[in-house]
Amino acid sequence: MRRHAYTYDDIQLVPSFSKVISRKNISLFTKVSQHYYLCAPFVASCMDTVCESKMAIKMAEAGGVGCIHRFLSIENECKEVETVVDYIKKNILQKKWSTLSNDWKEEFAIPVMAAVGVNEDFVERAIALVNAGVNIILIDVAHGHHELVQKAIAKLKSVLPKHVDIIAGNIASAQAAKDLENWGADGLRVGVGGGSLCTTRLKTGFGVPNVTCLEDINAVTTLPVMADGGIRTSGDIAKALALGSQTVMLGSLIAGTKESPGQIIEKNNGLFKRYRGAASLETKTAHGKEQRNVEGESTVIPFKGGVKFVLQGLQDGLRSALSYSGANNLKEFKPDYLIVTNAGLTEAKPHLL
Ligand code: XMP
Repeated sequence: MRRHAYTYDDIQLVPSFSKVISRKNISLFTKVSQHYYLCAPFVASCMDTVCESKMAIKMAEAGGVGCIHRFLSIENECKEVETVVDYIKKNILQKKWSTLSNDWKEEFAIPVMAAVGVNEDFVERAIALVNAGVNIILIDVAHGHHELVQKAIAKLKSVLPKHVDIIAGNIASAQAAKDLENWGADGLRVGVGGGSLCTTRLKTGFGVPNVTCLEDINAVTTLPVMADGGIRTSGDIAKALALGSQTVMLGSLIAGTKESPGQIIEKNNGLFKRYRGAASLETKTAHGKEQRNVEGESTVIPFKGGVKFVLQGLQDGLRSALSYSGANNLKEFKPDYLIVTNAGLTEAKPHLL
């Protein structure tokens, strides 16, 4: 018999005994890769309508990290990185992070992350990004359980300095996690076909619903796992972390903010910004790529204002989640969960109005 596979809406976390007095004291300190830590488990997705320097700076201010996307020339991706690094250098962040979490130590380095692919210029790009100040390279490909990723990790490990961590993905199976760990990855980006604009599952039939995907992978890996795709609420974030993930990667939740790349679009019914899949026709056209293998949609979404307020809301929700399980920090956050029926899902949402 084949197993069932579940996603965020299929489960609810079960409350347990708590002695947490104030949610404010709950720490969201976590690990994003083997050698780098965050004060909040949020990573901005390396999409061209989500993360360039403005977003990365705001993510860092909130204790998370932004991954600068790779749909730029090497020079321009490096410029975005340099803008982030210049801000970090001001030493404001080290001080701020020590107030955000008691676990933060002076000797930790603030992570600076940027994406590369596995073709063409990726080695040159990675070296330039590291020279610009990046300490985490994310290998950003749709099918991370691939020989090209194995070769890319080996190559990057041989040319980059030791302080640089490599996060690789995307993957969706236990075997992929074991392989990427053996190939030398320092962190895993997990989730295939579950993103808000993804059409991979429709086009190819491939992909694993997020809960099962994260559970399978967290059962076999010692690496920090970044849950990527399909996260719509702080409740989804709590579920991803409850399943053993260390961080979540956010796309749609933080797209459409002041700091996401792109212009505000004025319409009769309000303000909007564009949000487009990395493999959408629009993104491929915008970057002069071949218009084939389209596996994503593009759309406009309502303008949300400053990302700071979105992140604050997510942190508040997540701290509440920890208090429902009696956890003072993410290490202690190991709630049980139940599979719910459709009636349970209906009950879980406001249903009076
Ligand atoms: P959310 O749900 O946060 O998802 O908006 C963001 C994640 O979706 C992935 N992504 C894509 N997946 N086709 C895909 O199959 C695409 O065009 C595409 N664009 C982004 C990516 O993992 C991102 O972090």
